[in-house]
Amino acid sequence: VGVPLLRGWKGSTSTGLLLPSRRPRPEPFAVALPIPPVLRPARFDAEGEHYEIVQRVAAVEILPGLSTQIWGYNGSLPGPTIVSRSGRPVTVLHRNELPVPTVAHLHGGRTPAASDGYPTDLLLPAGSTGHAAHLPAMSDPQAVITSGSRLYSYPLDQPAGTLWYHDHRMDFTGPSVWRGLAGFHLVTDAAEDDVPLPRGARDLPLMVMDRSFGPDGELLYPSVDPGLVTPGVTGGFGAGVLGDVILVNGAPWPVADVDAARYRLRLLNASNARRYRLVLDPPGALVQIGADGGLLERPVRHDAVELAPAQRLDVVVDFSGYPIGQDVTVLNTFGDGPTGRVMRFRVVRAATDDTAVPAALPGEPGLSPGPDAPARTMQFRHATVGGMAGWAVNGAPFTPGAVHARVRRGAVEVWRLASDFHHPIHLHGATFRVLARSNGGPGPYDAGWRDTLDLRPAEQATIAVRFGSDPGRYVFHCHNLEHEDMAMMGNVVIE
Ligand code: C2O
Ligand code: CU
Repeated sequence: VGVPLLRGWKGSTSTGLLLPSRRPRPEPFAVALPIPPVLRPARFDAEGEHYEIVQRVAAVEILPGLSTQIWGYNGSLPGPTIVSRSGRPVTVLHRNELPVPTVAHLHGGRTPAASDGYPTDLLLPAGSTGHAAHLPAMSDPQAVITSGSRLYSYPLDQPAGTLWYHDHRMDFTGPSVWRGLAGFHLVTDAAEDDVPLPRGARDLPLMVMDRSFGPDGELLYPSVDPGLVTPGVTGGFGAGVLGDVILVNGAPWPVADVDAARYRLRLLNASNARRYRLVLDPPGALVQIGADGGLLERPVRHDAVELAPAQRLDVVVDFSGYPIGQDVTVLNTFGDGPTGRVMRFRVVRAATDDTAVPAALPGEPGLSPGPDAPARTMQFRHATVGGMAGWAVNGAPFTPGAVHARVRRGAVEVWRLASDFHHPIHLHGATFRVLARSNGGPGPYDAGWRDTLDLRPAEQATIAVRFGSDPGRYVFHCHNLEHEDMAMMGNVVIE
């Protein structure tokens, strides 16, 4: 199965193998864009807001007229959106009613290690005590394994931003997220309130992901990984799984009616492996105001934006530049045919608009690390270890006990990241600025504070990393989820 999409190593835009759907694809631009509901806290008190989420199997309608079984936070895809205020702590009590262990991670959260969702800190299904599937975790002496429910605490002592939560179980993040375990967590703050950006119904979180479907509407995911079993073969599913149906907020190629006004689009690439280059058709400006780590210091105007898995880009689009009645399609120029389009906006009515994108935004400025800042090099490459092909950091596949770096809390370090392929590199417990790429300065999509870097084939990038102040063990890894599951992950201990 699968049509190779690797069109050559360098300069390729693809990151895996296409898994073709085995049923006719739905009509594009026929389903209304869903907006995931905002979750209400179960209670709140002086300590903050307390949420409860049940991870469960659910049957949902993704393809019109068909039922798809998913694993969803509260049974939905995306999971419910949590909206929090910077500095006001949140707890989320996750209950696991799925047939497999899970790990919840708040991607982009400045979270103490105990709640960060370390890949072996399993939450076992309610009623289970453990079996062979948990072996990697069971053999990690530091793993904190719970059963049924687990309380995650998030101080959210950080600027406003577009965060998301998703599963993070060691070796199984790809299939679990593919089945639906992903949701938005937005943080707001006073500095952002002071900027006259579009809000309310004109502030749209857009979770973009690709999936493939079987004849009865079931989600397809490969159960055998040729890349895993054939040493030296990087073109198998081990390169990453690509679907041929593009979902936005869980709907295939949806359509949204919009006012002729400015909208804030919080773009999140929640795909396992697919990279996107998004443009508007007819052409229009995408004015970037934010990245992974929150608002920029100043807006950046783009005609196209690129997003590697897990990256977020907040853009403002002014639909008043189009005539009423105009269809504005979001295309993916890295895709082909069905994967070359994403969703459509329909400009349906005139509207008043008192928003603006000011020339100065409240984002925190970048860093210039001093000459004595600790420097490290991390190689993200394919490796064959003990006859098993996989993805590795500095030649070694992930083991919970192996520490790649011990860093001082709050330290600023310079990291050089080198790659052989497309690897979206994500650091937990840290945020960073891109200082340089192989052939020069930061790329056009590198502005602002990031937590995920789009590292491209045969490229080297230099980043200034600022580590958090919470001590403990954190992972960094490739966010191509198949690469992550094939062990392209390392450990940082913040001391
Ligand atoms: Cu979005 Cu380590 O994860
Ligand atoms: Cu990778």
